[in-house]
Amino acid sequence: LYSLIFGRLRISPEDETTFYSNAEGYWKDIPPTVDGMLGGYGSISSIDISGSKAFLLKLIGEGEGKTGTSCALDCGAGIGRISKRLLLPLFNTVDLVDVTQEFLDKAKTYLGNEGKRVGNFFCTGLQEFVPENGRYDVIWIQWVIGHLTDNHLVDFLERCRKALRPKGLIVIKDNVAYEGVVPDEVDSSICRDLEILQSLVSQAGLRIIHQEQQINFPKEIYHVHMLALR
Ligand SMILES: C[S@@+](CC[C@H](N)C(=O)[O-])C[C@H]1O[C@@H](n2cnc3c(N)ncnc32)[C@H](O)[C@@H]1O
Repeated sequence: LYSLIFGRLRISPEDETTFYSNAEGYWKDIPPTVDGMLGGYGSISSIDISGSKAFLLKLIGEGEGKTGTSCALDCGAGIGRISKRLLLPLFNTVDLVDVTQEFLDKAKTYLGNEGKRVGNFFCTGLQEFVPENGRYDVIWIQWVIGHLTDNHLVDFLERCRKALRPKGLIVIKDNVAYEGVVPDEVDSSICRDLEILQSLVSQAGLRIIHQEQQINFPKEIYHVHMLALR
């Protein structure tokens, strides 16, 4: 299964189905908590959110070339950890999309009163999801791209590009491998190196307008990068 994904060539339809269904099965068994979202690293959530906020505040707001703050999309949102502490405080409306219904159900209570400003809860895989054209100022995609095959990731990013409002941007925040592609058979995902990720981004017709590495994360985990694209 993985050698095919590895080669970044073609993956057989059966292997692709297994790749996605194994991931769905994995997440169905994970408790709908911050710790569950972060694979036991719930303690880094605050550092993560602070880093994201500092990054995003450089790009959004009033002024020449800045991105608006009407509507954001949280991709692979889970229970809404990022929507609650990053996106809902900064945007008028937030939509969430995730493949795991149980997480979206939990989000409805986890987000609290501010959750009233959620526009839509979409329960679907990103490989099938078609975001509405021209709807979003920011499309936030964190810790989920490893669940998409290369072709699906490129196609999804292209659909996201069309779903942006003028001056809108896509942010990918994710683990980055030291070299090549590293599979994780436990959750059925892969981790790509930065060069491969950048190449997939450019295949989607997107340009990196700002990039930073998240600081202050534990030494033993993957490096995490934030890429702002449009
Ligand atoms: C590591 S968690 C991250 C959750 C959230 N982004 C965060 O940082 O708190 C991965 C999430 O991706 C979702 N997911 C996995 N495969 C997916 C797919 N193909 N399409 C959409 N969501 C997916 C899981 O249900 C889970 O909520």
